Amino acid sequence: MTGTPQVRPEPFDQLRTAPVDGRASTGSAGMSPTSATSAPLIVGIESSCDETGVGIVRGHELLANEVASSVELHVRFGGVVPEVASRAHLEAMVPTLQRACATADIDLSEIDGVAVTAGPGLMGALVVGLASAKALAYALHKPLYGVNHLVGHVAVDLLEHGPLPESCVALLVSGGHTSLLEVRCIADDIVELGSTIDDAAGEAYDKVARVLGLPYPGGPYIDKAATGNPDYVRFPRGLTARKDLERHRFDFSFSGLKTAVARWVEARQRDGLDIPLADVAASFQEAVCDVLSAKAMDACAATGATDLLIGGGVAANGRLRTLLAKRAAECGISLRTPRPNLCTDNGAMIAVLGAEIVAAGGKPSALDIGADSSLPVSTVLL
Ligand code: KG4
Ligand code: ZN
Repeated sequence: MTGTPQVRPEPFDQLRTAPVDGRASTGSAGMSPTSATSAPLIVGIESSCDETGVGIVRGHELLANEVASSVELHVRFGGVVPEVASRAHLEAMVPTLQRACATADIDLSEIDGVAVTAGPGLMGALVVGLASAKALAYALHKPLYGVNHLVGHVAVDLLEHGPLPESCVALLVSGGHTSLLEVRCIADDIVELGSTIDDAAGEAYDKVARVLGLPYPGGPYIDKAATGNPDYVRFPRGLTARKDLERHRFDFSFSGLKTAVARWVEARQRDGLDIPLADVAASFQEAVCDVLSAKAMDACAATGATDLLIGGGVAANGRLRTLLAKRAAECGISLRTPRPNLCTDNGAMIAVLGAEIVAAGGKPSALDIGADSSLPVSTVLL
């Protein structure tokens, strides 16, 4: 699309020059810049993995969040097959968009802008969403915002708990990423404090689920199965030893834990013993949640953050939410947990991030931006 003129519609120039800033409003009226009636109506398109998501928001108000998942198509392969996911996005995109408009009771001509996941994610899957969003923006003469999927996972909390405070740490735990972030401004200033040096937390859940004979994606199944004794096996807590903390204070490692569970299960099977699923699942889960919550508390202490926010598929985990709530209360930290169906991939998270970017005066993306499968979390907008 090189050479295509950029679309700069009039109403947006007014919105962008309005005296707003994307950070928390501390004023007594309690109105965030995007909660006013003039807040932008944004459609958000998500297609980075196996969920085709279309969300519609007006500022921080959620109007629609439609998701079509292709997960059943991948179950028998034990993981997402990129080409299958891309084709499923193609088929689902228009019907999902139509459903979202019907739910929000809006006509597409009413929208103020189109936000879309530009990365990170599966390249073919991203391209379907990005091409759809470009077509929509171009046809409607509305601005396009190519945004970061990971930041979307953090931004979704705005729909539940309103503007972010000044100092905020986010624990991002998804299938492909596990990071601790210092969120200075959700629209354009995110600092990664640390991340996983091998497997992501969700990836560890999915791999351990396979070892335990549970279906894909494993996270929700382990969550459900983990009703046993969390101290049944003391599995390793990666990068928590004193010597590791010197270099990797805010980093994570789950590969050793995954291997430890696999070895433990193999040894039991070799000895002809049963696998106590509820206990092993609970013990694995405890190791993951112990490390995630301890490092998240430490990140809050180190940055002086008063609020901790969690996002990404693993943030739907029951034990993680409980343990974080306990430790946050002990440390005097306010915990912000989006409802579980907003933690997994969806279009609303992309829409609300787009709305924040508009409110903060972010410049629309060019219509010839490309998808970036490894977009760093510090790049909020392309
Ligand atoms: O954020 P997400 O929906 O997609 C990515 O961006 O990766 O995260 C998907 C991951 C999968 O690994 C899935 O097993 C995990 O989130 N997950 C969970 C739970 N629900 C989803 N992990 C643990 N407990 C859950 N309840
Ligand atoms: Zn995600």
